[in-house]
Amino acid sequence: MQVVILAAGQGKRMRSDLPKVLQPLAGKPLLGHVLAAARAVARARICVVHGHGGERVREAFPDPAIAWAKQEPQLGTGHAVQQALPHLSETGTVLVLYGDVPLILEATLVRLTAAAGSERLALLTVEAKDPTGYGRIIRDDAGRVQHIVEQKDANPEQLRVHEINTGILVAPVARLRGWLERIRNHNSQGEYYLTDIVGLAVADGVEVVTTQPDHEWETLGVNSKVQLAELERIHQRDLADQLLEDGVTLIDPARIDIRGDLVCGRDVEIDVNCVFEGHVELGDHVKVSSHCVLRDVVVGTGTVINPFSHLENSEIGKGCQIGPYARMRPGCRLGNDVHLGNFVEVKNSVIADHSKANHLSYVGDADIGSKVNVGAGTITCNYDGANKFRTVIEDDVFIGSDTQLVAPVRVGRGATLGAGTTLTSDAPAGELTLSRARQVTISDWKRPVKKK
Ligand code: UD1
Ligand code: CA
Repeated sequence: MQVVILAAGQGKRMRSDLPKVLQPLAGKPLLGHVLAAARAVARARICVVHGHGGERVREAFPDPAIAWAKQEPQLGTGHAVQQALPHLSETGTVLVLYGDVPLILEATLVRLTAAAGSERLALLTVEAKDPTGYGRIIRDDAGRVQHIVEQKDANPEQLRVHEINTGILVAPVARLRGWLERIRNHNSQGEYYLTDIVGLAVADGVEVVTTQPDHEWETLGVNSKVQLAELERIHQRDLADQLLEDGVTLIDPARIDIRGDLVCGRDVEIDVNCVFEGHVELGDHVKVSSHCVLRDVVVGTGTVINPFSHLENSEIGKGCQIGPYARMRPGCRLGNDVHLGNFVEVKNSVIADHSKANHLSYVGDADIGSKVNVGAGTITCNYDGANKFRTVIEDDVFIGSDTQLVAPVRVGRGATLGAGTTLTSDAPAGELTLSRARQVTISDWKRPVKKK
């Protein structure tokens, strides 16, 4: 099956410089969601019909498997599909989707496709509580679909119909081509309506069938930021429900945001207001406390992420304690039972098993062995203003508080650095190294007093 995605509408009501179909939902452009649904059901060609802002839209999806068709001017949905026809092969069927209808589910499309078979015209319809604005499905006394009438062209009796056209349909390509050649724009909007193919199919004796989605929200479109926000909440709630069904504990399923994919093991617990971006994996018994942001991280079994931690592009081992207020920037790998405490920033570093940096530190471009204690206020001076250098700290090192390690520098196994040290050359293994002005006491010193 082939797919056509209509995405030429301007989206003026978004009041944004960003083309409508590039507006993000769950961190991904609307069109990205539709393409994912399309790819799930169709291995064959996908053609996107674009108009306004088309170049930006194309650049956002450099996939060579997508064919792009330009529609200018925009003369209606039927005219839009017609622009895609040169990109479609004559045989088989085509699924029509919309770039601004992002939540359509694969299961629904599979059902619609099955209903269409190779010869039928299959429409996705919804029994809407409020059908205002939508095209109505008009059936005969036997319940057979006759045609679709748009809201603006409908008579009072037709307006009472609650079964609406979602716009999503599957049609045999060769038939579709013929029907599109025959549609006219003699209607209240002066547009070439895709929906007019239904009446033509009936006239040609082609069977028209309908199926319904599992959820009405799958077929909702986005025309404004209000609708975008509504769909975001619907989608997030659906993702949260899936996690709950998988056995994840969510303290409040209304207060989690997933912008990418979140893979969870058994007995994972997630507190409120956490954001997951990119690809995140949480192992068994991981706990993520409130207000954490995790982007592209893998977290090992039993690790606890304490509140307000911000973790990016890193790997965390088993049984670690992270935060509160920890920051891991890209390129970190923590072993097992590593502790990173409050206001500890780590970047592009490896920290081996049982090591701890509990308070107020910056660890950048460092290789830290196991059972190392990084004292409060320790800083790796990794950058000289032009180049970056590594700090190596071997196993069993104890680093006193308020130490600066001026890289490149190495601290040998079992070494101790005295508090306040500014380390500018390597510290030998097993020894105490410190750089510190000797402490003096001036016993007859007097505090100054204010002159009269
Ligand atoms: C259309 C259907 C209506 C259905 C409704 C569902 C027609 C004639 N009517 O109405 O039966 O109930 O969708 O939302 O099809 N587009 C283009 N090029 C165009 C016109 C539209 O690409 O020239 C795209 C738009 O970007 C949009 C979609 O097609 O994504 C629907 O267009 P819109 O004008 O919103 O159609 P409706 O009037 O809502
Ligand atoms: Ca619409």
